[in-house]
Amino acid sequence: MASTKDWFETIAEAQRRAKKRLPRSVYLALVAGTGKGLTTADNVAAFDELGFLPRVADLPAKRDQATTVLGQDVSLPVVISPTGVQAVHPEGEVAVARAAAAAGTAMGLSSFASRSIEDVAAVNDKTFFQMYWVGTRDQLLARAERARKAGAKALIVTLDWSFDSARDWDAPMIPEKVDLKAALHFAPEVLRKPRWLWSFAKTGKLPDLTTPNLAAEGEAAPTFFGASGQWMGTPPVTWEDVAWLREQWGGPFAVKGIMHPDDARRAVDAGCTAISVSNHGGNNLDGTPASIRALPAIVDAVGDQVEVLQDGGIRRGSDVVKALALGARAVLIGRAYLWGMAAAGERGVTNTLEVLRQGIDSTLLALGKASVHELSREDLVIPDGFALHG
Ligand SMILES: Cc1cc2nc3c(=O)[nH]c(=O)nc-3n(C[C@H](O)[C@H](O)[C@H](O)COP(=O)(O)O)c2cc1C
Repeated sequence: MASTKDWFETIAEAQRRAKKRLPRSVYLALVAGTGKGLTTADNVAAFDELGFLPRVADLPAKRDQATTVLGQDVSLPVVISPTGVQAVHPEGEVAVARAAAAAGTAMGLSSFASRSIEDVAAVNDKTFFQMYWVGTRDQLLARAERARKAGAKALIVTLDWSFDSARDWDAPMIPEKVDLKAALHFAPEVLRKPRWLWSFAKTGKLPDLTTPNLAAEGEAAPTFFGASGQWMGTPPVTWEDVAWLREQWGGPFAVKGIMHPDDARRAVDAGCTAISVSNHGGNNLDGTPASIRALPAIVDAVGDQVEVLQDGGIRRGSDVVKALALGARAVLIGRAYLWGMAAAGERGVTNTLEVLRQGIDSTLLALGKASVHELSREDLVIPDGFALHG
């Protein structure tokens, strides 16, 4: 389908619409990245280095995309990656979760999300709760138990974070709280984007920068910065901590942020069900190569023992197919759906997932594959030196 006012045909077009619609600081908070932006750029560029080997006859009339991730059936091999800034839209994570549910896929909810696990799990019964290692073991366990009670089907523990988000480009000042002072600070740029402002004005609410999923029972939600302070004061996580939480949780459990085969092996030893090969979308250590480059060696190391997922740089259906051909079970998407949400709310997230679904389908057709499970490295042209640890 060609792009129309109500439909974008590619993720690049969704990003253009998001940029047009959002105040500059909000747009830049979604662009994110760190340092010089090397990793964010390589995450996308590395996919371009991979080629396809198409076939032309005896192609399958129907192509199947269904698989399972962390024990949940998903209708396409694309899952919502947890991101913490969805207060850019009044419905935020709830809109994303609804769109994912309608598309038949799972939702990863960040512990830095603006909406509660209860609200989100109520609209998507395939919700995974993401945690960072913030606070004491008791506090972590209480959060996990709250998520379980709300209906979360799996835990995702994100390990790759080292507290450096300085950027060479204009890093936005994020207010502690959207109060009058912050509103005045942002007023000039926000007033230039009346449609965005109107989407909040209609709901009678200001963007919420609290983190309800980090609140202890009966306490007010900490602000984004309050929670970040507690996080910085928490000693760095150990593999023993990970194994402990996995044991306490008992259900499907993923570690996100793996780039090294040795860490993948440690995650297996800790009892993980899944790992995501990821560099946090380039938001952590700049200079880390694209996550897709780390995938093949990690699949070779542990692919028969855990579900290997990949996230970082997915912008089209053909990228998903490349990741699957290199051995990923499914991919997680971040910016692709954030652009969709910023462009058109829930409908925009639906649009993003449909763009990817259609792209996967036409790529499978061109490769002569009846199912995502038939893909292999034989379908790709992989240049020498592409993969890490090779
Ligand atoms: C704005 C933004 C916020 C993010 N917040 C989180 C988060 O709270 N927890 C987490 O595990 N990952 C977070 N991520 C990383 C994503 O889950 C994912 O790893 C990354 O976006 C994948 O790369 P992509 O954006 O190129 O798809 C965030 C990413 C972005 C862009």
